[in-house]
Amino acid sequence: MTRILMVCLGNICRSPLAEGILRSKVDQEVIFIDSAGTGGYHVGELPDRRSIAVARKYGLDITDQRCRKFTVRDFDEFDLIYVMDNSNRRDVLSLARTNEDTEKVKMILNELFPNENVDVPDPYYGGEFGFESVYEMLEKACAIIAKKLHS
Ligand code: 4NP
Repeated sequence: MTRILMVCLGNICRSPLAEGILRSKVDQEVIFIDSAGTGGYHVGELPDRRSIAVARKYGLDITDQRCRKFTVRDFDEFDLIYVMDNSNRRDVLSLARTNEDTEKVKMILNELFPNENVDVPDPYYGGEFGFESVYEMLEKACAIIAKKLHS
């Protein structure tokens, strides 16, 4: 079983979409996907209604997800940790204990733009267009990740 964690700040906008999109593209018998946030502001909550809406528009239901906070134990539980932006990466890496932990952490848009460390913009304070463009970026990145996982 390969275990993959998607991480953003709030775990209500970007990483729940990344989790839902990647889940829809892989064999869940062999790949486990979860998400978490580096901040603890929304623990226990559903994804943001705008993420739920854009996912639904593309045929995905992400309402089974509940927000949780990233913890150092996630380095033991997961094989790969995809962060949405540079700030998430700093926060996650600040908890890494070993090189092995550090090597698990990847910027998700480096799948599309290798080594460029491009952020998935935080859509929380923006309008609906933000969620649509975030969805499109994550869809492209997750297609590449899914292809790699099953090759
Ligand atoms: P996310 O967006 O990191 O994509 O889930 C955010 C959601 C909530 C907050 C920040 C970012 N917040 O500060 O509450």
